[in-house]
Amino acid sequence: MIEVQSLTFRYEVSERDALRDVNLTVPDGAFLGIIGPAGAGKTTLLHCMSGIIPHAFPGDFYGAVRVGGLDTADNRLTDLSRLVGTVFQDVDSQIISSVVEDEILYGLENFGVPHEEIGDRLTAALEQVGISSLRERTIASLSGGQRQKVAIASLVALRPQILVLDEPTGELDPFSSRQIFTLLRTLNREHGMTVVVVEQKIMLLSEFADRLAVLNDGEIVKEGPVRGVLSDIPLLERIGVNCPRAALFSSLLAEKTGTEVPVCVSAEEAVEAARRVMG
Ligand SMILES: Nc1ncnc2c1ncn2[C@@H]1O[C@H](COP(=O)(O)OP(=O)(O)O)[C@@H](O)[C@H]1O
Ligand SMILES: [Mg+2]
Repeated sequence: MIEVQSLTFRYEVSERDALRDVNLTVPDGAFLGIIGPAGAGKTTLLHCMSGIIPHAFPGDFYGAVRVGGLDTADNRLTDLSRLVGTVFQDVDSQIISSVVEDEILYGLENFGVPHEEIGDRLTAALEQVGISSLRERTIASLSGGQRQKVAIASLVALRPQILVLDEPTGELDPFSSRQIFTLLRTLNREHGMTVVVVEQKIMLLSEFADRLAVLNDGEIVKEGPVRGVLSDIPLLERIGVNCPRAALFSSLLAEKTGTEVPVCVSAEEAVEAARRVMG
């Protein structure tokens, strides 16, 4: 579980708060999506969840963040990283080895995993992420989606309770983007990992996340089950977040026909809603 309590943070060099009085609880097993316009504080909030803030970025930090019961301010980053695995926005800067299996081994050795366990953990992580066939490939020969999976596998090998990802599909085509989310769903549902992901592709995110948190100007302006959040179209438009078309469609359909239409999050649902209204 992640508990963010009255969190306010200002980077040392900055004149304004990057996060202001943020309160958020992410229960174990949740799949939370975070959306919001550029500069809203999404990356900063993820850094606070992983402990990178306050440990690696100087600034004014008020409030508290607890991860698995540990207060991030009172615990070392190395201990926190056993609980929370982070995939940064620039995934290439995170990968240090030149061969896939070395990248995963590096983390396992660094974490002091006993030697006799390392082989099994490596094989299991590759399998869980579905990249066993890439084991001996060079990183340079991989596609963006494959590199994203390597970064995820090297975290999964360390068996964190929580995975935190910053725009993991930012550089990916629609097919690979969907693959990454399908993988996150498997890790969430079958391997019990809590997933927190910042994502611009709201339609895709909405299909996979259980809940959404909307950040704007350092504040959480809405949080709740996906459909509830997407039904507040005026809010999303006001803060400049691209509202998924299916949700826009269902709201227009309701407005124009004067009937009750549930919020749709996929094209299939929108078609179904239209059918019902047209009788
Ligand atoms: N390292 C940093 N130093 C100073 N200010 C920063 C730093 N990183 C982000 N900020 C500022 O904090 C605010 C939130 O940024 P960020 O968390 O990166 O937003 P998002 O990920 O939603 O685009 C912005 O105003 C940004 O300029
Ligand atoms: Mg960001």
